[in-house]
Amino acid sequence: MIFDTHAHYDDASFDNDRDFLLAALPEAGIGGVVNVGASIESTKRTIALTEKYSFIYGAAGVHPSECGQLAEADIQWLKQQALREKIVAIGEIGLDYYWEEPEHQIQKKWFCRQLNLARETALPVIIHSRDGAKDTLDIMKAEKSREIGGVIHCFSYGREMAREYLNMGFFLGIGGVVTFQNARRLKEVVEYAPIDRLVLETDCPYLSPVPYRGKRNSSCNLPLVINAIAALKGMEPEEIQRITWENARKLYRL
Ligand code: NI
Repeated sequence: MIFDTHAHYDDASFDNDRDFLLAALPEAGIGGVVNVGASIESTKRTIALTEKYSFIYGAAGVHPSECGQLAEADIQWLKQQALREKIVAIGEIGLDYYWEEPEHQIQKKWFCRQLNLARETALPVIIHSRDGAKDTLDIMKAEKSREIGGVIHCFSYGREMAREYLNMGFFLGIGGVVTFQNARRLKEVVEYAPIDRLVLETDCPYLSPVPYRGKRNSSCNLPLVINAIAALKGMEPEEIQRITWENARKLYRL
């Protein structure tokens, strides 16, 4: 079975056919999904999905681009949600310097606070890091993230950075980008990283693999990602599927 470690099925782009699509996932070989919170509101919607579908788990957290209005009371609310049985991670959290807002200092503050929330709740973290490689790594080292554990979602840096996170004990999330013609750097990372440290993800509705690039993504497209990883690793797709399933269960401690 296939494990999608990072999805956003609460996104409005699924409003017209969400239940139809989700109900069909097990038949398509999707045995587990972690729906990832990106704000307080989407964490609430994530919890609702975990209550409705046995194979959906959730992550509670606030994305760096959404942290501008956060307050400590929100962190305390997230902490309560983390007690729920099907909440398996704190995320997605991190730094996103692609967008100018919120300013870097604010993003860093809430990144640190949520790393500590993960420590307090003994859950792994789902890290979002875009155009902020050095600051992300510096903060994660300073916060002793090795003791927390988790995944660098939609890994987008090079081999040097991959080595840092692998040394820290983290998993790397690999999705549709690995099928893109111009993704040379990511393909190198997939070749380099041990297979027992890679997990599959869609980040749906975003980042559909080729030949669906630009269209709405779903977990049903993950076989295309599996095939791309298998080709890079010189392994059978069935093997990649089985190993990444085990990796996902280790990552989320299921
Ligand atoms: Ni995401």
